[in-house]
Amino acid sequence: MISGANIAVVTGGGHGIGRALCRRLHRDGVKVVVADLDLRSAESVAAEIGCTAIRVDVADESDITALVERVENENGNIDLFISNAGVGFGDADDSAASARGGMHDIEDRWEACWQVNVMAHVYAARALVPRMINRGGGYLVNVASAAGLLAQIGDAAYTVTKHAAVGFAESLAITHGDAGIRVSVVCPQAVATRMIGIEDDSDSMEGGFGGNEVDGILSADEVADCVVNGVAAGRFLILPHPQVSDYVQRKAADHDRWIGGMRKFRRRLATR
Ligand SMILES: NC(=O)c1ccc[n+]([C@@H]2O[C@H](COP(=O)([O-])OP(=O)(O)OC[C@H]3O[C@@H](n4cnc5c(N)ncnc54)[C@H](O)[C@@H]3O)[C@@H](O)[C@H]2O)c1
Repeated sequence: MISGANIAVVTGGGHGIGRALCRRLHRDGVKVVVADLDLRSAESVAAEIGCTAIRVDVADESDITALVERVENENGNIDLFISNAGVGFGDADDSAASARGGMHDIEDRWEACWQVNVMAHVYAARALVPRMINRGGGYLVNVASAAGLLAQIGDAAYTVTKHAAVGFAESLAITHGDAGIRVSVVCPQAVATRMIGIEDDSDSMEGGFGGNEVDGILSADEVADCVVNGVAAGRFLILPHPQVSDYVQRKAADHDRWIGGMRKFRRRLATR
């Protein structure tokens, strides 16, 4: 783990990748705070690893400010803050611009994705960066997605907001790196969680509603291990699926060819 990391907060820690991160950090001797909108699941993870659970809606800046204040008052300085909570709803009616979600119904998926996938990272940095700079440093990990470097076929709002999350992590690292703020951004492809329709605790690596057609699916535990190793190495870009690095290079080398390839892939998915 990162040297001197005693206290970590994980948002979205009640399920999936966040829960696996809480368990892994706990095994590494870090005192973890499990923060989630779903208090019951956060409490169940906290009971398992003997730590604190706090209900937080990361889309609400006052919730994040209160979370940071409470943890620092009750537990001590936050060394590592993992903004992991994320949402995706899918395009409705085969339209990249649809307001409603296709996979999960919501009136304005753009607003929800913007708040949870992007602004939550901004709110965490706003609350923590000044505190961390005052005490000589700290670590922020933002969980984005390979969709933030490439694209998620069938979910424009997710793609756009995950690109923004990657851009914000880059800005944080560039602006505050000299002041001791370390930043990593995590960009996995498919992971076996509820996000791709796989039930919690099912241990299933199959099925769900897609996203796992490329390069296979990782377990949440495998992703948590990658994150911890990447953070220990102080790596900015953490790619649990290493192939993503090649795709990014191919996209940068010939954007038109990349769009053509993605259209072909979309047609293939549509015939299934
Ligand atoms: N599963 C994948 O295939 C995959 C791939 C790439 C990136 N990701 C990203 O990984 C992160 C974790 O997702 P996951 O796959 O574990 O999904 P998940 O649905 O299993 O877990 C997401 C967690 O975030 C919490 N959450 C949602 N909205 C919240 C809010 N407003 N405030 C606080 N908590 C909230 C949920 O209650 C849940 O515990 C997300 O940012 C997601 O976009 C997932």
